[in-house]
Amino acid sequence: MSALRTLAFLALIGIASSQTSDCSYGGLLNYLNLTSTNNVLEITRPVKNWTTPTLVHLDMLLYGILEVDEKSQTVTSHIWFQMRWQNEFLTWNSSDFCGIDMLTIPRSRLWIPDVTIQEDASDSGSIQNSPLITLIPSGSVLAKGIQRLTFTCQMNLFLFPFDIQHCSITFTSMNYNGETLKLATTTSDTTLTSISERIMITHGEWQLKTIEVFNYTPTQDNKSEIKLVYMIKIMRKPMLYVINLIIPLLYFLVLDLASFFINEARGEKLSFKVTILLSISVLLLILQDMLPSTEVNLPIIATYSVTIFTLVGISVLEAILVSFLMELDDYCGKKTQSSVKTQVEIQLEADYHQEHVEVEEKGQVNPVPLNSQSDHNLLRLILEEVKAARQEAGSQDKDKRKPGRYKRLAEITDSVFFVLYLLTVIIFLIYMYILWCENCIANDNH
Ligand SMILES: *[C@@H]1O[C@H](CO)[C@@H](O)[C@H](O)[C@H]1NC(C)=O
Ligand SMILES: *[C@@H]1O[C@H](CO)[C@@H](O)[C@H](O)[C@H]1NC(C)=O
Ligand SMILES: *[C@@H]1O[C@H](CO)[C@@H](O)[C@H](O)[C@H]1NC(C)=O
Ligand SMILES: *[C@@H]1O[C@H](CO)[C@@H](O)[C@H](O)[C@H]1NC(C)=O
Repeated sequence: MSALRTLAFLALIGIASSQTSDCSYGGLLNYLNLTSTNNVLEITRPVKNWTTPTLVHLDMLLYGILEVDEKSQTVTSHIWFQMRWQNEFLTWNSSDFCGIDMLTIPRSRLWIPDVTIQEDASDSGSIQNSPLITLIPSGSVLAKGIQRLTFTCQMNLFLFPFDIQHCSITFTSMNYNGETLKLATTTSDTTLTSISERIMITHGEWQLKTIEVFNYTPTQDNKSEIKLVYMIKIMRKPMLYVINLIIPLLYFLVLDLASFFINEARGEKLSFKVTILLSISVLLLILQDMLPSTEVNLPIIATYSVTIFTLVGISVLEAILVSFLMELDDYCGKKTQSSVKTQVEIQLEADYHQEHVEVEEKGQVNPVPLNSQSDHNLLRLILEEVKAARQEAGSQDKDKRKPGRYKRLAEITDSVFFVLYLLTVIIFLIYMYILWCENCIANDNH
């Protein structure tokens, strides 16, 4: 009898303990009233007193920078984020439920704050929210998600390719104001940066400098404003652009300078310079593909390449001028020489004929009588001599005066231009160097 009583007592205890301490999730769901569709928990902010604001702790990690589009001013990145807030109705004592300290339920069963990113320009399919959310005994609810985020970022490309971009990702609520929803972050800036740096897989041409978090708490007169801003500072790795753009342009400029030492004579200099000009224009096309057409803060590299293009263009013009002067010189030389000859010849011929006729006509009247053929021949010989001498003297005179002048002019032009050009190039390069480096240093310290 006593044994039976003990048995019954034990059974009773068993029933009692199985009722109070349920080790399945079902019991906990029952306790939390989540088995039947509890609409209230899905549709309203889970607070007992509506004046209590819901504090949402938000953490974001940057997994990768996939693409930076300078033309459309967008950055495509890969982010991971989690939100944690308090649900006042879903608390339990874990020792009552076999120590269950975590419960996952479908996302659709609970209210979730409508936090969105202001700068988001992604297409709709890029968010991947976890289908489940996690509850813990104290009433905290945890929702996680990953997103391929394309966000707008106003870029300053003045220092391209040595630029550092400051982009912000602003979390805000579409419907709640500062009185009902608050945003905060749990991790500090330095932890956030170091974690992101460690986990980042794809860097591309960018290096993450820092991530800073700014929390705009609503002020007395600006209650509607709730914002959590992640300021991301990324630095471009400039080496590729230095190798692909800046150094080739510099080489072209040096080649153009060197081309002044090419012999003028055969027009090779001009064609060489034109080839350099064409090569630079190809590089300009590449550059145009990369940079947006903005009028404010024109990138230094644009000034750099256009100035080099202009310099080479001017030097081509100068080469054309010099070659024209040379041509003119040749032309004048030939023309004057031939014209001198003919003129002299005609003159002499005329003189000769005149004399001849005169001799023929009034042979007897001459003070010195020319009576024989040998005398005539002698005179003719003298005439030839005089003709040659006159011709020589005349042509020498012309040569000295006319054709040499253009050639010298061309040479002087070339020398003066070369000196000026070299000076301009040196000053320009120093100016570019200062402009770029000063700003780089300022940017680094900033
Ligand atoms: C679950 O619902 C019952 C009845 O509607 C209520 O008495 C109980 O307090 C609810 N439990 C919780 C945890 O809200
Ligand atoms: C709700 O909260 C407000 C402000 O905290 C308080 O004044 C009020 O008494 C609370 N109401 C209830 C029913 O607890
Ligand atoms: C949970 O329940 C145990 C035993 O029933 C109790 O000792 C403990 O204080 C409770 N914890 C909380 C947080 O209520
Ligand atoms: C509230 O904040 C917004 C955004 O920062 C600002 O534009 C606005 O001027 C502020 N209003 C007041 C009254 O301070």
